[in-house]
Amino acid sequence: MSDREEHVVAVLGAGTMGHGIAQVCARAGFETRLADVDVPAAAAGRAKLEQSLARLVEKKKLSADDASATLARVRAVDADAACAGATIVIEAAPEKMELKVDLLRRASKGADPRALFASNTSSLSITELGQRLGAPERTLGTHFFNPPPVMELLELVRGVGTSDESIERALAFAAALGKTPIVIRDFPGFATSRLGVCIGAEAIRMLEQGVGKVADIDRAMELGYRHPMGPLKLSDLVGLDVRLAILEHLHRELGEVFRPPVLLRQMVRAGRLGKKSGHGFYRWTDAGPEPSDV
Ligand code: 3HC
Repeated sequence: MSDREEHVVAVLGAGTMGHGIAQVCARAGFETRLADVDVPAAAAGRAKLEQSLARLVEKKKLSADDASATLARVRAVDADAACAGATIVIEAAPEKMELKVDLLRRASKGADPRALFASNTSSLSITELGQRLGAPERTLGTHFFNPPPVMELLELVRGVGTSDESIERALAFAAALGKTPIVIRDFPGFATSRLGVCIGAEAIRMLEQGVGKVADIDRAMELGYRHPMGPLKLSDLVGLDVRLAILEHLHRELGEVFRPPVLLRQMVRAGRLGKKSGHGFYRWTDAGPEPSDV
């Protein structure tokens, strides 16, 4: 018999990342509860998860039985029901500290007394989150990558107060999910976002300066550096609002090099958020992404 810790997982936020994280947890065999601002929003996330599983069945990457068993482990509920007795709460809400503190404070009322409080934040301070939650030793970052079912890395972020025991439990959780973890000290932007947004922001500035068209700038990194997708397409995949929020935070914390490009602000104001809104630097249709110069 396996001695792995049998988690009950609450994922708070059923958007781009949340439903993918729930898929990974359920696929690993854990009971998974998915919540959002209300139950219909959580159910919409679960429906996306169902579509994602169906695509894997279609491609013969997953049996129909495994897909149904995975889906049966996921319940779309309200946040209180999601957190009742949960042993790990993963918040995947928008990149706003107050919202994350609020969500995790509420979660801590009903969760298991030993529960880990994990944030999928791309850049915000885990130390501040743990301190304001009143459980610094059990608070950490579990930073997943889009699309969560595909990406191998799990960046674990250790706040100043995070205990060794919590990191050990998180490492075991990462192994159960089939992810390769790295443990990173809490510092704005961690190891991944800090580097990732630099390339993305510079690509947007190059577009502003007329260095090349969307397709050429992306092709430069795809063919010249073997990146699986260029920086503009990747920004669309992540969400331009998400990228802007990360850059604003890093600009405040680390300085000028992270100043968000004006074009990025304009696109977010115009509602061109990337793949999730159907239009960013590309138009996203069923036929695939088409460059859309600005
Ligand atoms: N669930 C399960 N599997 C999925 C999936 C999903 N939702 N989406 C795609 N896949 C699988 C496909 O089945 C396919 O498997 P196969 O290779 O065994 O056939 C594989 O992923 C590749 O999918 P596609 O053939 O449809 O498409 P591509 O070959 O173009 O790959 C990609 C798509 C995996 C997204 C690839 O382009 C890529 O790796 N892009 C870079 C992604 C990246 O850098 N992500 C990190 C963003 S930063 C971030 O998330 C951090 C945050 O804080 C902002």
